[in-house]
Amino acid sequence: MRTFILLWCFGLFLTSVVGGNNETDRLALLEFKSKISDDPLGVMSSWNDSIHFCQWKGVSCGRRHQRVIVLDLHSQKLVGSISPNVGNLSFLWKLNLENNSFYNEISPEIGRLHRLQVLLLNNNTISGTIPSNFSSCANLRVFHVGVNSLVGEIPTKLGTLSKLKIFAIHKNSLTGIIPHSFGNLSSLEGFSAAYNNLSGSIPDSFGQLTKLKIFAAGSNRLSGTIPPLFFNISSITEIDVAVNQIQGHLPSDIGITLPNLETFTISNNQFIGSIPISISSASNLHILNLAENKLTGKVPSLEKLNRVRLFSVAENQLGNGGANDLSFLCSLSNATSLRDLEINTNNFGGELPKCIGNISTSLTLFYLNNNKISGNIPSVIGNLINLEDIEMWNNTFLGNIPSILGNLQKLQFLDLSQNNFIGNIPSSLGNLTNLLELYLGDNNLQGSIPSSLSQCQNLITFHLLHNNLSGIISSKVVGLSFSLNSLDLSGNQFTGVLPMEIGNLKNLEHLDISENMLSGKIPTSLASCVKLEFLAMRRNFFQGLFNATDGFSSSNLIGVGSFGSVYKGILVQYKHTVAIKVLNLGCHGASKSFKAECEALRNIRHRNLVKVLTVCSGFDHQGHDFKALAYNFMGNGNLDEWLHPTPRKINEALEKQRKLSLLQRLNIAIDVASALDYLHHHCETPIVHCDLKPSNVLLDDEMIGHVSDFGLARILHDIVHDSSTNQSSSIGVKGTIECLYQIF
Ligand SMILES: *[C@@H]1O[C@H](CO)[C@@H](O)[C@H](O)[C@H]1NC(C)=O
Ligand SMILES: *[C@@H]1O[C@H](CO)[C@@H](O)[C@H](O)[C@H]1NC(C)=O
Ligand SMILES: *[C@@H]1O[C@H](CO)[C@@H](O)[C@H](O)[C@H]1NC(C)=O
Ligand SMILES: *[C@@H]1O[C@H](CO)[C@@H](O)[C@H](O)[C@H]1NC(C)=O
Ligand SMILES: *[C@@H]1O[C@H](CO)[C@@H](O)[C@H](O)[C@H]1NC(C)=O
Ligand SMILES: *[C@@H]1O[C@H](CO)[C@@H](O)[C@H](O)[C@H]1NC(C)=O
Ligand SMILES: *[C@@H]1O[C@H](CO)[C@@H](O)[C@H](O)[C@H]1NC(C)=O
Ligand SMILES: *[C@@H]1O[C@H](CO)[C@@H](O)[C@H](O)[C@H]1NC(C)=O
Ligand SMILES: *[C@@H]1O[C@H](CO)[C@@H](O)[C@H](O)[C@H]1NC(C)=O
Ligand SMILES: *[C@@H]1O[C@H](CO)[C@@H](O)[C@H](O)[C@H]1NC(C)=O
Ligand SMILES: *[C@@H]1O[C@H](CO)[C@@H](O)[C@H](O)[C@H]1NC(C)=O
Ligand SMILES: *[C@@H]1O[C@H](CO)[C@@H](O)[C@H](O)[C@H]1NC(C)=O
Repeated sequence: MRTFILLWCFGLFLTSVVGGNNETDRLALLEFKSKISDDPLGVMSSWNDSIHFCQWKGVSCGRRHQRVIVLDLHSQKLVGSISPNVGNLSFLWKLNLENNSFYNEISPEIGRLHRLQVLLLNNNTISGTIPSNFSSCANLRVFHVGVNSLVGEIPTKLGTLSKLKIFAIHKNSLTGIIPHSFGNLSSLEGFSAAYNNLSGSIPDSFGQLTKLKIFAAGSNRLSGTIPPLFFNISSITEIDVAVNQIQGHLPSDIGITLPNLETFTISNNQFIGSIPISISSASNLHILNLAENKLTGKVPSLEKLNRVRLFSVAENQLGNGGANDLSFLCSLSNATSLRDLEINTNNFGGELPKCIGNISTSLTLFYLNNNKISGNIPSVIGNLINLEDIEMWNNTFLGNIPSILGNLQKLQFLDLSQNNFIGNIPSSLGNLTNLLELYLGDNNLQGSIPSSLSQCQNLITFHLLHNNLSGIISSKVVGLSFSLNSLDLSGNQFTGVLPMEIGNLKNLEHLDISENMLSGKIPTSLASCVKLEFLAMRRNFFQGLFNATDGFSSSNLIGVGSFGSVYKGILVQYKHTVAIKVLNLGCHGASKSFKAECEALRNIRHRNLVKVLTVCSGFDHQGHDFKALAYNFMGNGNLDEWLHPTPRKINEALEKQRKLSLLQRLNIAIDVASALDYLHHHCETPIVHCDLKPSNVLLDDEMIGHVSDFGLARILHDIVHDSSTNQSSSIGVKGTIECLYQIF
């Protein structure tokens, strides 16, 4: 008994000498409290003298000597710095301040806590460096400072912490290398250093870490090769080195030496060579992500990977464009948890095997884009009823788009663009009511847009560009979805007018209807699309005018006006004969004249003014600027030809009767006078024609005079604007209108 008391006294003495006493702890805690600058949950209010500090919230004491052994204030929304006096809590074995807003540095004094086993400072805003004298905390098992703002290097001296199991520093701004000394952390099970700026290579010494389970160092600047011994650590369950610059081959026996592997993520590095056949033996793999490397060759059978959830070999150089490239897909039929299957951006060729119908219905994401896959989409794809995202763009798929796709009710993203699909857009796609983005561009699709698509009320992006689609753009289609953000119908053969309902698309930012055969006015309702940033309508009329004039053939040339040639043409669609003035843009002043004419004719309407049917500004087949105006065709030519008849260009029958009576002359004079009166006195802003002469007075079938050619017109009190900018502001479009508008 005496011995015991003696020992006890001696212990007390030692404690007070070496580790201070219970009063020291109280003072240290009060110092800790004094550094808390915000405590919205009022945690610190219990830290007062009315109760013993061992009862303060978050404080636990050893029963024997009433010394603080645990300080746990995680997730308490505390703001402040960590007092260096914490280093006086000499009995502390656990300090948990995770998930708060502590700032400033970790004071090196904390390195004095020799009994410290667990340090959790993760998810704060701590800055500064990691104090190297944590190396004195010889009992440290868990060191977690992830998700902070730490800088500097990982102290080499930490390699002496022989009991350390978890070392987590991820999501900081640490630099330098992974210390070689860490090979001495013989108890290490988890190394988590992703999202820093670590460089150098993974030390060879890591091969000695026989208890290592998790090695996560993604998103750093690591280079070199993975040490061969590293692949011999059979305990490893997770390797994540994504987004670094690591090189080398994968060892051929990887699946045998790492039988416990569950996560293997090496994406976005510079691995070369082939995928080892043995990988299938790592049958515990959940995540196998080999994307964005330089892997080549054939993908081996994956038949033993029954637990794989994500398999990605995207963005490598796998496959040789051959017929059997995709046979490995058939080996995935036992993977009953497969969700993500990414084989995009490789050299895979051949057809999509029918066995994809045996892939687990758990599949939600299937990326095949940017390969050379040919043939039809097998209709068994309809089995994969949980698919949410299919990317098949940029392949050489053929045939019809299978209507069975309409069964995949959960689809949100469907991209079949840049293939050779033919036939109609299946109306069954209207069943895809969850669809957010639909891309069918750059195929050879025909027919009209199925009205069933108006059921896709959640569409945000709808792209049909560069197909052979035709028909009108119905109000139903335009009424697709209020959420529609991007609509691209360019490069098809759509006809008719853009419906007023376009104005219902309040979220529309991008509208491209270029290179179609649309006509009519731009609906004023487009002004309601206040978010519109990109609007392209170029080359809609060129083709129409080209056809109407028989390719602007010389037999259709009926005159040469100021700045351009005038052709007679028949707009078949409208069964209407028109005169088309094509501006010679090489001719100085032609563009200005075009603008002036557009401007002048924009708002005027009078029976004795020539009626401009359409104004077309865009590009011709060669991509050259093309500007033209189409007018009602005047059957009796211009007044000049009647006043000074010449044999040229006038057929003989007409020639004979070409003589104006006095009454006709008087009427024409009245016509011209009333046109001028209108221009000068009845327009909102008076217009001066500036080039009135007999050749600019056209006579219709009834010999009624129409003043034409406003190429030199001036609008008084007004600068002649650039018609295109004026147009854009008038309909409230922020971006540029590339092309045309039309006056009817
Ligand atoms: C400190 O310990 C001594 C001896 O065990 C005890 O008498 C005293 O009450 C303690 N003080 C505090 C503040 O716990
Ligand atoms: C001191 O802490 C106790 C226990 O939480 C509390 O009831 C009391 O209100 C506190 N006193 C002060 C002055 O905050
Ligand atoms: C972190 O703290 C917040 C409150 O600040 C809490 O909602 C969240 O659940 C905590 N997270 C963890 C992982 O404890
Ligand atoms: C506690 O720690 C602080 C800072 O590290 C130090 O200034 C002080 O002397 C220590 N001792 C006591 C008994 O508070
Ligand atoms: C990190 O802490 C913040 C509050 O400071 C909290 O909102 C967030 O959920 C925490 N994150 C994690 C992963 O716990
Ligand atoms: C750690 O560094 C601090 C400050 O330099 C010092 O006070 C403390 O004694 C050191 N601890 C150890 C164990 O070296
Ligand atoms: C890494 O360094 C680069 C360049 O020095 C810097 O831009 C980047 O923010 C750093 N990243 C981290 C996570 O610190
Ligand atoms: C590991 O520890 C031993 C013994 O302390 C030492 O000799 C060796 O240099 C250490 N290795 C590394 C890589 O630091
Ligand atoms: C890996 O371990 C096996 C068996 O334990 C051994 O035969 C082989 O040599 C080791 N590989 C390396 C690179 O050390
Ligand atoms: C289409 O895929 C091929 C590889 O098959 C690639 O070379 C090409 O750049 C891709 N095109 C686009 C537009 O992504
Ligand atoms: C799917 O679409 C087709 C064609 O539009 C239709 O006949 C069928 O009833 C739709 N099925 C479902 C489940 O909506
Ligand atoms: C123009 O002619 C081509 C060839 O005959 C025809 O395919 C096209 O539909 C025509 N376009 C218009 C707008 O009439």
